[in-house]
Parts: sequence; C-alpha cells; structure tokens
Amino acid sequence: MTVLDGARERWVRTGGVELCVAELGDPRQPTVVLVHGYPDSKEVWSEVAARLAGRFHVVLYDVRGHGRSSAPSPLRGGFTLEKLTDDFLAVADAISPDRPVHLVGHDWGSVQSWEFVTVRRTEGRIASFTSMSGPSLDHFGHWINKRLRRPTPRRVGQLLGQGAKSWYVYLLHTPVLPELAWRGPLGKRWPGILERVEKVPGGDYPTASLPSDAAHGAWLYRDNVRPRLRRPREDAHAHAPVQLITPLGDAFLSERLYDDLELWAPRLTRRTLPAKHWVPRTRPDRLADWIAEFVTATEDGRAGTAAKGKHADRFAGQLVLVTGAGNGIGRATAFAFAEAGARVVAVDRDAEAAARTAELSRLIGARAAWAETVDVSDGPAMEKLAARVAAEYGVVDVLVNNAGIGLSGSFFDTTPEDWKKVLDVNLWGVIHGCRLFGRQMAERGQGGHIVNTASAAAFQPSRALPAYGTTKAAVLMLSECLRAELADQGIGVTAICPGLVNTNITATAHFAGADAEEEKRLQRRTARLYGVRNYPPEKVADAVLEAVVHNRPLVPVTPEARGAHLLSRFAPRVLRRLARVRPPM
Ligand SMILES: NC(=O)c1ccc[n+]([C@@H]2O[C@H](COP(=O)([O-])OP(=O)(O)OC[C@H]3O[C@@H](n4cnc5c(N)ncnc54)[C@H](O)[C@@H]3O)[C@@H](O)[C@H]2O)c1
Repeated sequence: MTVLDGARERWVRTGGVELCVAELGDPRQPTVVLVHGYPDSKEVWSEVAARLAGRFHVVLYDVRGHGRSSAPSPLRGGFTLEKLTDDFLAVADAISPDRPVHLVGHDWGSVQSWEFVTVRRTEGRIASFTSMSGPSLDHFGHWINKRLRRPTPRRVGQLLGQGAKSWYVYLLHTPVLPELAWRGPLGKRWPGILERVEKVPGGDYPTASLPSDAAHGAWLYRDNVRPRLRRPREDAHAHAPVQLITPLGDAFLSERLYDDLELWAPRLTRRTLPAKHWVPRTRPDRLADWIAEFVTATEDGRAGTAAKGKHADRFAGQLVLVTGAGNGIGRATAFAFAEAGARVVAVDRDAEAAARTAELSRLIGARAAWAETVDVSDGPAMEKLAARVAAEYGVVDVLVNNAGIGLSGSFFDTTPEDWKKVLDVNLWGVIHGCRLFGRQMAERGQGGHIVNTASAAAFQPSRALPAYGTTKAAVLMLSECLRAELADQGIGVTAICPGLVNTNITATAHFAGADAEEEKRLQRRTARLYGVRNYPPEKVADAVLEAVVHNRPLVPVTPEARGAHLLSRFAPRVLRRLARVRPPM
C-alpha cells in the first residue's frame, strides 16, 4: 500500500537506473521537490506532501537503490554526489522543464541537495532549498579543518561532540557489516526503534524497503564521505536562498555544524524546532508551514531578505500574539519579535494603538503583522478572537498575555468595583488568553510558549498595592501551575516580573480613594518617579525573548525586581518590613 494517495507516477531513466517519481497537486503551481534520506524512501514525506499538495506541484522520487527505483551496477561508485546530481537534473527536466524547482531535503536527501545547490551546472534550475538534518559534506569538511588547524578547547569540544554523534558513519564505512546488520536483527527491529527512540508514530506503511534500501544506502557514505571530508570543495556556495531547519534534539548532528553557514549561504533563513531527527514523520505540520512560507517568499522575491534580528533563528516565521501591544512593554515586545522575523498579532483594546504597532512591526521586519481590537477581560470577545486568529493566521506559537492596568491605594479605600476591574483585566485577561490560545497550542501538539506579564508585586508585598499585587501573585501561581501541566506537551510557561518600567501605565493607573484632581496629581508624581528610574520597556522585551528561548519559569527583570525576588526567598522578613513603609504620595 502507498500513502501517497492520488499521486501520479512516472519513471525517469538516467545513468543506467530507473527512478520512480510521484507527483501531487497542480503542475501549474510552483514545483517543490522532496528528497528523502537514509534509510528511507519517498514515502517518508507522505504527511508533508499531502499538506503541500493543495498549493504546490509536489514531486517526490526514490533515490537510486531505494524504494522502487533501481540500483546501479556495480554498487561501488554508483552513488557518488555527481551521479545523484545527474538524477536530480533528470527528474527536474522531466517534471518542470521550464521553471526552477524548490528543493527540500532531509538527512541524506539534504546532504545531496547541498551538492545540487552548490554546483554550477544546476544554476537556474533551483529556486530555493530547504535543508534539514543533513549538512553539505564540503562545509562539514571545512568545519573540521578549521577546528583542527586552530584547536581551542571549545573547538576541540565541538569536534568531539560531533565525533560522538557520528558513530554510525564509521560503522557504515566498514565492509559487509552494515549489510549483515540490516539483513539481520536491525532490519526487523527498525520500525520499533524509530517508534521508541525517535518517537516516530508507528504506521502501516514502510518508509524504506528494508533491508535492501539500507544496504544500498551504505554506499552513499562509502562513495562520498571520506573523499569529500578530506578534500572539501572551496567554491561550495549556494546559488539559491536557503532555509535551514535544525531540530534541536538531533542525535546524529550537532547544531554547531551550522555556525558558519552564512559564509556559504548568504541568503539564509534559520529556523530551529524542539524535535528529534525524523522531522518529516514527527513534525509534518510545522515543516509544511515553513516550506510553504519559504517557497512563497522566494516566489515573491522576499526570501533573500531574511530576518537578521536577535533570535531570528528561533522566531522567524513563528506566529506571536501579544496583548496590550498598543503601548509600553507589550509594544516593545511586539517589536522585538518583529525584528526576529516573527508574524505578529498585536492585540489591544485601543484600536488605533494596535494598528500603529502592527504597521511599525511590518517596517521593523515582521514577516506579517495584524492588529486586533479586543478587551482581554471580555470572555466572549476573547473566544471570538481566538477562533478568528486560528482560522486566519494559524495556531499561535508564542502567546504573551501582557495587557494590564495599574491600581494603587489602601485596602479599605479599594472598592468592590475597583477590585472587579483590576481582577477582570489583570487576572481574567490572562486566564482567557491561556485557556483559549493555550488549548489550541496543546491540541496542535507541536509545543509553544506562553508568557504572562506578572510583576515584582507578585512576590513583594506593599501596603500601597493590595489589589494589584493580588492579581499579579495570582498570575504568577497560574503560570507555575500551567507550566507543570503543559510541560509534557512541550509548551513552556513563563511569568515575567518587570519592576518599575518607564511606560504610560502611570498615566492610566487608578488611585483608589483619591478624587479626580488628587488622582491626576498622584499619576503625575508616579510618572516622574518612573521617569527618574527610566528603565526602558525594550529591556523587558529582550527578557521576554530570552525567557522563551531558554524556557525560563520566572524572570524578575529590573535589578530591584531581582533583589526583591532574592529577598522574598532568603529574607522575607526584610520585605515585610519594607512593605509597611508608606509610599511617597
Ligand atoms: N510599567 C511597569 O512598571 C510595570 C511593572 C510591572 C508589571 N507591569 C505590567 O506590564 C504590563 C504592561 O504594562 P505597561 O507598563 O506596558 O502599561 P501601558 O499602560 O504602557 O500599556 C498597557 C497596554 O495594555 C492595553 N490594555 C489595558 N487594558 C486592556 C484590556 N482590558 N484589554 C486589552 N488591552 C488593554 C492598553 O491599552 C495599553 O496599550 C501590565 O500587565 C502591567 O501590569 C508593568
């Protein structure tokens, strides 16, 4: 049985072999060629191909000696990168003679695709290349040489790290042994190993015809690895835009291998994802989204302008939703994600402010940016927002529940209405966000991150902030509980606790017990205090991105917030004394 349902099949003859080629989708659309790795056949791409076929002309072929393609005779010397390039060109000529194709490779499919995209004879035939879990052997050779020539302790560590991950490459170079292993127990156990170790879902279809594919594939290594690593080409520069997708849990390849990649592929877009090696089987949704986006960007001529901001490797192309994005910390956070090339949804109850943030986000570097007007305390409105965002932009990868309001005043001056208002926005707004967008993330099953803006007031009591502090302490505990619940699903949760930050919050904060005139005076006075402290919201935004990258649970941001956090843990009595000090009002 084949899972490439509805695929049209054809055979392409080249260099003494016959290649089995499958096509899906409308041939008038841009062509995406998917090249599989080792030990796989084109069926490894089934889930990705099915998702791309609605928008593109999708082409897959069994590499020579794999799946239903025939093997060269003799095997030795039949799998050189030159011959594999001949095969690719023959397939490209057959399925897309007039237009360059978008190439996608995984594992050895990526290794050979690097060859295709760096040799001169394919120039003009490749529009873009998406690489995952398979480096160029030339780049790899230079990477090793550089570390051997100038072996600093760090470089030696990197060499040893990759060396340990390459144990199977040495094994595959031995004569006969791999063939025997595949014909014996390894061949039988392979699907179970993939399922257990790599978390590849078990399926009723094969991704490789074991043991013959795997035995043939050993020649990919023997014919190419040693000669290329010994004498890597000097001119192995990519002549098309490249998108590099790096699974961070790859047991076979170190992320460090790609450190210098911009030298070889100047039009580079980097993406990382928390996954193991077999991403075409484990993360087809994510890959299909990224491939589609990159192909479309290349067709529109945008792929060369890859995001350059800090953490672009992590956030480029990701969907990030920020509430309270019209001003202050939310706006700075939206901009920081925009700079990293994310797709940004700026949410605020102030429509004009949200629109401005979206517009500027696009100018700063967001792949796309939209404004949405909603009051986060309004449950039904938030439900509608969540449904609209999912339908129009997709499932959010990073959610920042930031919208909040200030409320100051003694406990007895704080009216039930004051309590309700601050709880509705500061706590219920966060609950709605987590409940609605968090559920979508969890159901998608591809991880994500939720950031909730709490405050130093969450752990630092104060006689001036009983209601505000209560909402923020609740946000902190909600974040901790949710973090525990979502950990297994690869969704991180962070509570950000800023401290005094110079934003407009002082101008809109309510001072319980004060009449209108007195409130204005107190707002101006607090604004001056925040102005003197002058801690910029951009630094909080940086802390948000760092927290997501490193999956931090709790981040006190300003030095005084960090100090208060330490005191709350090691000297809470001191904080309790400070809490009794009357605010300078
Ligand atoms: N500025 C600080 O010193 C400080 C310190 C600790 C925590 N915080 C927290 O940081 C977050 C952002 O505060 P800021 O300082 O950037 O404030 P800000 O007033 O500058 O910005 C808040 C934004 O949220 C929006 N907003 C308010 N209520 C909303 C609602 N119900 N629905 C949708 N949007 C709403 C506002 O329109 C505004 O654009 C808040 O949760 C605040 O409690 C701020």
